Amino acid sequence: MCGIFGCVLSEGSAAPIIHRALERLEYRGYDSVGEATVYGGRVHVKKAAGKIGEIHKLLNLDDLPGSVGIGHTRWATHGKPSDRNAHPLFDCKENVAVVHNGIIENYQELKDMLIEKGHSFISDTDTEIIPHLIEENISLGLEKAVMEAVRKFEGRYAIAAISSDENMLVGVRRGSPLIVGRSENKTFIASDIPAFLNHTNQVMYLDDNEMVVIDGNVRFFNTETGQSIEKRLITINWDAKQAEKGEYPYFVIKEIMEQKETIMRAINQDENTILRTAEEIKRAYGTFFTGCGTAGKVCMAGEYIFSKVAKKHVNFVISSEFPNYKHFLTDKTLLITISQSGETADLMEAVETARKMGVKVLSLVNVMGSSLYRNSDYAFLLNAGPEKAVASTKATTAQLALVTLLAYAVAGRLQEGKRLLMETASKVNDMLNPRYEARIAELARKLKDSQSIYIIGRSLNYPMAMEAAIKIMELSNIHAQGFAGGELKHGPLALIQDGTPCIVFAANDETRVDIISNAMEVKARGGYIIGVSPRNNEVFDYWIKVPDVGNASPVVNIIPIQILAYHLALLRGCDPDYCRNLAKSVTVK
Ligand code: F6R
Repeated sequence: MCGIFGCVLSEGSAAPIIHRALERLEYRGYDSVGEATVYGGRVHVKKAAGKIGEIHKLLNLDDLPGSVGIGHTRWATHGKPSDRNAHPLFDCKENVAVVHNGIIENYQELKDMLIEKGHSFISDTDTEIIPHLIEENISLGLEKAVMEAVRKFEGRYAIAAISSDENMLVGVRRGSPLIVGRSENKTFIASDIPAFLNHTNQVMYLDDNEMVVIDGNVRFFNTETGQSIEKRLITINWDAKQAEKGEYPYFVIKEIMEQKETIMRAINQDENTILRTAEEIKRAYGTFFTGCGTAGKVCMAGEYIFSKVAKKHVNFVISSEFPNYKHFLTDKTLLITISQSGETADLMEAVETARKMGVKVLSLVNVMGSSLYRNSDYAFLLNAGPEKAVASTKATTAQLALVTLLAYAVAGRLQEGKRLLMETASKVNDMLNPRYEARIAELARKLKDSQSIYIIGRSLNYPMAMEAAIKIMELSNIHAQGFAGGELKHGPLALIQDGTPCIVFAANDETRVDIISNAMEVKARGGYIIGVSPRNNEVFDYWIKVPDVGNASPVVNIIPIQILAYHLALLRGCDPDYCRNLAKSVTVK
């Protein structure tokens, strides 16, 4: 949420590099865009509310002088999207410019103090107090002034700052991601690696309460002690092409299609590590799955999969509610976290809560070097490659596959699990062909004007019904809701009228008879039944065939709904990559 970027070049113009980087960070927020550079003893700026493409047409974002600069793409928290609230934000004399991702919790108190000292503010943001606090000590130089300023904030943030008098960029991290990238004659800071991946794959991670100062050199400090820190340069195995759309019109359809390979990559883990982890899970006394949104639904599916395959009870708690469970945590508890970005604030808070109680943390995460990856005792990388569309697709099925594999490992049936998932990966590869997409696009045309779409499932596919609802809502803005099939008669059936669409996940397992009965109940009240199932049934008005993959059915069931949601988005004029009011990598609580 909010993308920040900064660069220091030994020669050449920073603005075109900032502009391209902001395009790559746009998935983190698309309410406004801005950039600022240092040149000739002044800070130069361009910024406005709106999407980067439109703003570039108006302002030409490539045209700012100087080889040091910062940029920002915003997801609004404090202050509505407007030119005035767009970052970078300035001090009184417009000598200091700051971009920020996160929330400054004590901003009101600091703002009151600064106003009393004579500072004047022009935006409604929490961010604006930062350049003014830096201004207080700017006579000491940017490096010292930033260090003094950040000691006064509370909250989670990553910031980048420049000033008119120094060819220097300063970045600070506490709770929101900030990564340094280095090539021979360019140094970058960014909220996410794809921002600079076309220049370098050599990175250094900032930890909380750390500051980086980039001029001719790159130096790191702890902001609490002021002591300098050594950092290791790490090589990232993503390439820039993976983070581009290529031949596809949108990231989301590219990422859906990439599931031909990503499921296989997710399960291609070191077997000894899987077996050691399985032992750790068996040893734990009190095990919790936690995650948010889609990843939370995978956690919930994990609860069912572990129960069914490994006969092990694992509690599921969505991360924002996890602190309520702290009384049940001991040093024998294991927390299994699932996340694409590894930066989600609610999840990181759950990890903090658990850590304080001595809990061990095992993570399934896509982004190497993310906060979650680095704060875990054991971490598996999903290996799905960069996921840029706001709606999670390929990371979801990678998570589902890996959770299923772990459950088989805990059951002492790792090879069986591996065979099942390899077969699933190969069947997904066959499934994702143009004819299959066309059949789902045809369904999208039938459903595009629906007021609501309901989805039902049982057992492993109950969480998938809820995940299907997330996909449809966020991509197409149609109201959608997932229910356990057995719950319909306890309330939701009241919503069914003539033609109400109801998607039914009817796996070929012990739940089939009951879920088909539930579908009958909906049909008897006028519902239009869409069956997602390996076998057709007379109750289905529209059948979407999925392969029969036993306990891996959640992996194959969700894919046609991802495609459906994408086509609904196209038909309804929604941007399939940038879901309304949402952003990827949710670094605010
Ligand atoms: C929906 C979606 C979100 C994320 C959630 C957690 O498609 O992507 O619900 O799943 O914000 O994000 P991560 O997985 O990055 O922790």
